[in-house]
Amino acid sequence: MAAERTSALLDWYRANGRDLPWRSTSDPWPILVSEVMSQQTQISRVVPAWTAFMARYPTPGDLAGSDRAELIRLWAGLGYQRRALNLQHAAAVIDQQGWPTSVEGLQKLPGVGPYTAAAVACFAFSVPTAAIDTNLKRILSRWHGEPLEASALARAAESELPPEAAADWSQALMDLGAEVCRPKAPRCGACPVTDWCIDPTVYEPPPRQSRYEGSVRQARAAILKALATNGPTSEPRLVSSTGLDRSTVSAAVNALERESVLVRQDGKLALAPG
Ligand code: ADE
Repeated sequence: MAAERTSALLDWYRANGRDLPWRSTSDPWPILVSEVMSQQTQISRVVPAWTAFMARYPTPGDLAGSDRAELIRLWAGLGYQRRALNLQHAAAVIDQQGWPTSVEGLQKLPGVGPYTAAAVACFAFSVPTAAIDTNLKRILSRWHGEPLEASALARAAESELPPEAAADWSQALMDLGAEVCRPKAPRCGACPVTDWCIDPTVYEPPPRQSRYEGSVRQARAAILKALATNGPTSEPRLVSSTGLDRSTVSAAVNALERESVLVRQDGKLALAPG
């Protein structure tokens, strides 16, 4: 049954898969960039940003020593700028030491967690491993008819993954999850594997972000954008130029300083040098 489901899924993907620009390469750099950008950002926004990014930073070496302010400006539409700074650190490590090719090695790169490491290992280095994210969790849980967690999820993923077509299988599930097996309104009528699915209603809503976390996140992005555009700026000026309230700016500035994204210089705030 699992084998039939796998071949129905792969047939569907070969006919209906999205034509995303990073799918036609096995170069790990564009693949890593696509995976980092796709975390928490919609694919429709990732594609143009990825295209511009790859034109500006075609290799890890091009990003490693580049100007941070320019990087932050280029990342502006994607949010979660911390990802860009981690990517720059990772680029420097790769530039100096070469690419790690195992999941464990990739996971040592700054900002690369288990999901991203598995995705790059599978798509770039043909390691037959599953990249486990909420999408895969939802789909496998529905196939199995119960919410799968942690080790049960990892076991299910490893046993479903076809080693000879691991990359296509993973990409197929990303497309299935985005377009058919959606979180809230699954389109089971359009699903190639509905005959082998126990319960399509299995769904756990993602944890909601609190209003406070949302406002600090927004403030972080606005502050980084202001500093990347205007250069070093005092905190009161940031309050007036962003239009945000003082306590939110202050909480965001403190967090960015703790993370070494910002530094204080002569009473002003500035992006930390790369
Ligand atoms: N989301 C995360 N990685 C992706 C990929 N490689 N293709 C499509 N959606 C994704």
